[in-house]
Amino acid sequence: MLKVEETQPVEFSSALLEKFDEIVKRYPEGKQKSALLPILHLVQAEYGWTSVPAMDKVAEYLAIEPIEVYEVASFYTMYFLQPKGKYVLEVCRTGPCCLVGAEKIMNHIETRLGVKEGEVTADGLFSWRGVECLAACGFGPVLQIGPEYTFYENLTEESVNKLIDDLRKK
Ligand code: FES
Repeated sequence: MLKVEETQPVEFSSALLEKFDEIVKRYPEGKQKSALLPILHLVQAEYGWTSVPAMDKVAEYLAIEPIEVYEVASFYTMYFLQPKGKYVLEVCRTGPCCLVGAEKIMNHIETRLGVKEGEVTADGLFSWRGVECLAACGFGPVLQIGPEYTFYENLTEESVNKLIDDLRKK
């Protein structure tokens, strides 16, 4: 995965631009803005997050204003507006999961990883954050890890330790 600093200019590779073109072709002429969400997913997969220079380049490619990209990227929580770890543990922090220990799990993850919510571990492997309901309310506490959004349910401190250890070994 490429690493990009916030201020570093971005030049999309021709392979990535080809993928953008394929997506834009799915929409009627003049409606290229409709390709914004899948294009942002591709950008995030390439760079690990959606930096301002990358969003500016997307705006340029789609011939729209940068603000049109920022407002979409900042609305949907699956786009990361700051650098993140390779694995982002997204823990449900909504009521039903809190009733069965979600806050305890988040505190444990913070201690185990040694980073606060939104920060990246020194080895670049992990970030974590609390998110709203993941629609697995009967199986809480629950977390998901993208980009496949694999679910881990009925979490305990022990199962979280195992998950982190297994990911480190990958
Ligand atoms: Fe946690 Fe719904 S409240 S998954």
